Amino acid sequence: MGTKVILAYSGGLDTSVAIPWLMENYNAEVITLTIDLGGGKGLGDDTRERAIQAGATKALVIDAKDAFVQHFVFPALQAGSIYQGQYPLATALGRPLIARYLVEVARTEGAATVAHGCTGKGNDQVRFDLGVTNLEPEFHIIAPAREWGMTRDEEIDYAKQHNIPLSLSSNKTYSTDENLWGRSIEAGDLEDPWLEPPEAAFSWTNSIEKTPDQPLYLEISFEEGIPVAINHQRMNGISLIEQISSFAGEHGIGRIDHLEDRLVGIKSRELYEAPAATVLHISHRALESAVLDRNQLRFKDSVSQEYADLVYNGLWYTKF
Ligand code: ARG
Repeated sequence: MGTKVILAYSGGLDTSVAIPWLMENYNAEVITLTIDLGGGKGLGDDTRERAIQAGATKALVIDAKDAFVQHFVFPALQAGSIYQGQYPLATALGRPLIARYLVEVARTEGAATVAHGCTGKGNDQVRFDLGVTNLEPEFHIIAPAREWGMTRDEEIDYAKQHNIPLSLSSNKTYSTDENLWGRSIEAGDLEDPWLEPPEAAFSWTNSIEKTPDQPLYLEISFEEGIPVAINHQRMNGISLIEQISSFAGEHGIGRIDHLEDRLVGIKSRELYEAPAATVLHISHRALESAVLDRNQLRFKDSVSQEYADLVYNGLWYTKF
């Protein structure tokens, strides 16, 4: 076997195809690394088996929900970090943490090459590349989907030839990403900004027709800007976010329709579902309006935007 490569693995089509592709094109020994940031179906044995079946020599899964909440989500909440006034940055906040685990696992496994499944069109490639490079400038980074030039149909053929089991999501219409803080939905017919967001794009939030007729009251307690309890019941950050997400989602809160300026220079229409982030940002803001004066609030607004841009642009581990 040749180069040892640690591949950030979601279990989806791109990263599954990347396993045999790295073996064929880089003579690589592939170790997959799946980081569970919550919000999804739960990543466990299934993901591990898919990776091994596709040719990985080892498949690691790390539950990083707590680290994500403590070191990324809550600091971003305190910072009021919302990109272009709309996007609470769920995907963008998750990338630097995945990059950190890629570097750590590579060091433990004695590898100097990492790989990710991003294409050349989005922000995520930049976040992974910068995250890894800032933590470990000597590492080599491979992005198979940026190199291989296959269409989605060609990828599916490639997967079939290499005995990769196709999941339902292989013929999905949108590109999605999920974690505790929110769900991102993009591509396909959404690229037409005139198109009203199709109901099929959403899965965490109810449409208005389906929301309960009775309103729901939630009282959220904060300590030093961190939410700690719902209706006086204390709980850890993960449960608090999950509970708010499901209550608010049921009431149709947290749908976002954004024409976004990507860091790679294109405007892109994006949808998000972020019920917990929406409720928590609004409550945190309400708290600030009670304890900060107008000059402090104005200053906070300007640094919030700065912070959001740094997160969006993948600069988490840089000095500024
Ligand atoms: N546009 C958003 C961002 O840059 C969402 C990216 C979603 N990623 C994905 N692979 N679908 O953060």
